[in-house]
This record gives sequence, C-alpha cells and structure tokens, in this order.
Amino acid sequence: MLRPPQEGLPYLRHDNAAQLRTDPGGLTIGHASITALEPSAAAAITIDASGCAVLPGLVDCHTHLPFAGWREHEYAQKVAGEGYEQIARAGGGIRSSARSFAAAGDEQVLEQAREAAAEMLVHGTTTFECKTGYGLSVDAEIRAAGLIAALGAQVKQTVTGTALLAHAVPDGYGADAWMAAVAQALPAVLDAGRAAPITALDIYVESVAFTNAHLAQMGELANANGLALRAHVEQFNANGSVPVAIAARARSVDHLACIGSEEIPLLASAETAAVLLPGAAFLGNEHLEPARELADAGAICALGTDFNPGTSPINSLPLVIGLAVRRYGWTVQEALLACTLNAAWVMQLERELGSLEPGKRADVLVLDGPLERIPYRFGHNPVQIVIAGGELAYVRPGSEWRVLR
Ligand code: NIG
Ligand code: FE
Repeated sequence: MLRPPQEGLPYLRHDNAAQLRTDPGGLTIGHASITALEPSAAAAITIDASGCAVLPGLVDCHTHLPFAGWREHEYAQKVAGEGYEQIARAGGGIRSSARSFAAAGDEQVLEQAREAAAEMLVHGTTTFECKTGYGLSVDAEIRAAGLIAALGAQVKQTVTGTALLAHAVPDGYGADAWMAAVAQALPAVLDAGRAAPITALDIYVESVAFTNAHLAQMGELANANGLALRAHVEQFNANGSVPVAIAARARSVDHLACIGSEEIPLLASAETAAVLLPGAAFLGNEHLEPARELADAGAICALGTDFNPGTSPINSLPLVIGLAVRRYGWTVQEALLACTLNAAWVMQLERELGSLEPGKRADVLVLDGPLERIPYRFGHNPVQIVIAGGELAYVRPGSEWRVLR
C-alpha cells in the first residue's frame, strides 16, 4: 500500500520521494472517505487485493478538456518535420481547435469529454483538471467555463477548472488588448464556472502567444481574485519565464522542456510546482525535460497528461508514468508521487485527496501486480479496480472475484 511518510503533508519535495512507504496493509472506507488504515471485518463489501499494489487514485493536474475533435493530420505534419510554430502560424494548432469548438454543440463537446473521462477512470484517474482556452473570444471562454461545470457534474471523478484565458491571441486583438479584455471578462467567466469552481488562471508564454510581462499581469489578476496562477512556460523555447512566475507566486510552471539550468535551483526553494508533461514532450519530439535534475534539486514535481488535441492526445497516466520512469530516470515512487499527492497540491486539493490517509476522499486503486509493473508493462493498463469517492467505479472483467459481498 503506497502511503506518504507522515499524515497531513501538503506535498513532498522530490528529493524526499524515497520516503514514500510501501508496507503491506489494508484500509476501511465509510461513506466517501477513508476511515481507517486497517481492514474491517464488519464491512459490507470486502476487496481481496492479495498480491496487488494498492494506491491512491491518480490525479491528472493538467488537461485541456473540454475540446472538440482531433488534429491527427497535424501529427503527421510534425512527424514529417514541420514545427509547432509553423503549423500555428498557418492557422493550425490552437486556432484550429477553437474553430472546431465553435462549430460543435454543447452536447457534442460534452459527449467527447465524458468518453475521455470514462477512459481515464479505467486507467486510474479519479481526479482531473479541466482548462478553458479553446474559446479565443470572451463569449466562447465563458461557454467553456460553463461546460467544465457541466462536465464536473456528469463524471465520477473530482474535477477542477482552470481559466486558460491567454492561450493564443484571438483574431482582431493584439496581446495587450486581449489581456485587458481578459481582466474585464473574468467575473463572467468565474460566474459561468461556479458549479465546479474555477480555481486557477493559466497563460501560455511563447513567441506565438504571450510574453513574460503578460505572465506578471495574469499573476496580479489571479492574486487579486484569490485564484492560483498556472503557466505554460519553456515548452518550445527558453523565455526566462520561471523567475517571473515564481515572483508572481505561481502554483505551478508547466512543460519546462527548455528551462535553463540556472533556473532549476529556484524551484528547489519555491512553493511553485514543476509540472512535467512527458507525453507532450515525447510526441512532439521536444527537448527532454531536466526532470532528474529538478527532482534531485528538491522541486515539487508533478506529472500530467496535458490531454489536448494538439500536443498530447494521451489521457493515460500509467503511460505517462512509464514515460517518466524510462525517459527521466525516475523511480516508480517518484512518478507516483508526482501524479498523486503533488498533483493534488497543484490543484489545491491536497487536504481532500491525493494520498491514502484517514479523512481523505476514498479514491483507491488496486493494480494487477506490484507498482514496478506500471512502467514495465508500458502500454498495458495495470488497473484492476477503481474506487472513486467510496464508490466501486470500475472492476476489470475477470477480476470480479476480488469483490466479496
Ligand atoms: O499544453 N502549449 C500550449 N497549449 C497546449 C497545446 C494546445 C494545442 O496545441 O491545442 C499544450 O501543449
Ligand atoms: Fe497544456
């Protein structure tokens, strides 16, 4: 059973990942919460997890759900050598997904998102973040926030919303003018997303998108509204955004493939997580993120799928764990810390979920073998049983015998 070294930790810096415990054991669930770290003979349902790893439900702290359609043709272009910026400047990329989002009805967008959420659940994801960002107009961003709220009410997972209001510069605006429009539109976006509250703002800093000055501005907007700041930085180029994000008290800096080596120690002392997205980096054939160095330095590392129709159509965290272990040289404990407790911290949910502790939400997975099998059987889904909020949400066909009623 995978557990933190002590109860009540908000996060664990990665130089301490080896302190995670993997002792044999069991637990009891009452209503939606973990009530004890030992089995109970009086339970109505007992799950026989003998020979299996038991761990907290996986937390995907970076997805771009909801979106409409896919962009497989762009992947072929990228494989043939075209760059992300080249595709974006020719009207592809985020703009192309914004057109699809505008053309699709609400129910069509929600259906695609529900289908993805169901796949994610079977692969062990019991909590995920959603982002707006494919709106590219004030009205469409408000619509996206409303769809996040609707999705949160329709899936078995815990969902939070992030308003990625600065993703690409919408037609008819300069970047500065759009940032002014964002500040004005924020109350309406927050109101549209109130059923599954928007808890963070996000911005994409890149030559084709926004600058460090806009990042600082977004930080002010987040701080003034009691929201966390997240930022897509150093994905394709080194822009020196990490110190700017830290100064703006960002909760996380995400991507980091091009982070400068002098910026790594800054994250070792900051309460700003390094969110690494190895699926996007792998499919984009990007620089390898210096994840080993970030972990050794003591950054708060987290992993996410970056699930989106452009850079990462991957929504399986077991696959992301496999990439992190092989490509970063991480242990499986490091990878799991990054998509459980630390990812919950990024989403500001660390008090409620992310680890197996009494009082936390009963999001629990039973795998089909030891933890080390997750990266080893790369591409295989190791999840046998998923409990989400105390409910038996998935049992793999053939594993029903483990559930004793
Ligand atoms: O996280 N880089 C910016 N945003 C997304 C990609 C969005 C897209 O290409 O549709 C990302 O990689
Ligand atoms: Fe992203």
